[in-house]
Amino acid sequence: MELLLTVLVLVPILWCIDGYPTGAHSDACGPMIPRHVGAYPQHTPSPYSVLTNSKMFYPGYPVTVTIAGPQYRGLLLQARSHESNDALGSWQLPPPDTKFLNCSNNPHGAMTHSNPNLKGVTTVYSWVPPDFHGPIYFMVTVVQERTVFWVHLSSIHVFRGSGPPPGPVAGPGRAGTGAGAGAGAGAGTGAGRAGALATGGQSGLAEQTSIVALVMSFLLFAILG
Ligand SMILES: *[C@@H]1O[C@H](CO)[C@@H](O)[C@H](O)[C@H]1NC(C)=O
Repeated sequence: MELLLTVLVLVPILWCIDGYPTGAHSDACGPMIPRHVGAYPQHTPSPYSVLTNSKMFYPGYPVTVTIAGPQYRGLLLQARSHESNDALGSWQLPPPDTKFLNCSNNPHGAMTHSNPNLKGVTTVYSWVPPDFHGPIYFMVTVVQERTVFWVHLSSIHVFRGSGPPPGPVAGPGRAGTGAGAGAGAGAGTGAGRAGALATGGQSGLAEQTSIVALVMSFLLFAILG
């Protein structure tokens, strides 16, 4: 009986603060804000930075993107321009523990997590630019833990190159191999770099929410036990 009560009361609480363990939904494509019940984005400086392997892009030639900083559990990653909120280009074969998300009528328009396993700088995302005059930037929402997340973190601007890409660059025919090939380079340049992309303000709202949930759980256990 006590166990049943505990389950009946606790499961909905934990469920509510758990957000989306299997990835963002398409309705998050525009706002890029997870709908965790009772959790708010961090306003403290983000410990993450969004890194690219190039400052230039050439339509059809993959650019790799990594998220440097502490390991994270969830994300929503898109390429954007300042012209609209559309997700641009097409992501390639998702790295482990991630999947495509259909954004802007494009089934490969965004990447999100497929489970809450930890991801890190060795998780490399490969993006194929469209025929766009650019510049573009990569925008990401990173979920470190269920209720601790930073929204709208941006990479540098990546400008459209003119003419053919310089040097031996992976070509358009290599869809699916780009993620693996880029892993070493992307991971090496990003490790340990902290971003300063978010501005100051209300800090710790999410932690307070977690603590309230924890205290409630503890009280319930105390009462029922
Ligand atoms: C992607 O979403 C659009 C609507 O936003 C829908 O029309 C389309 O069928 C979806 N594509 C896939 C492959 O689910």
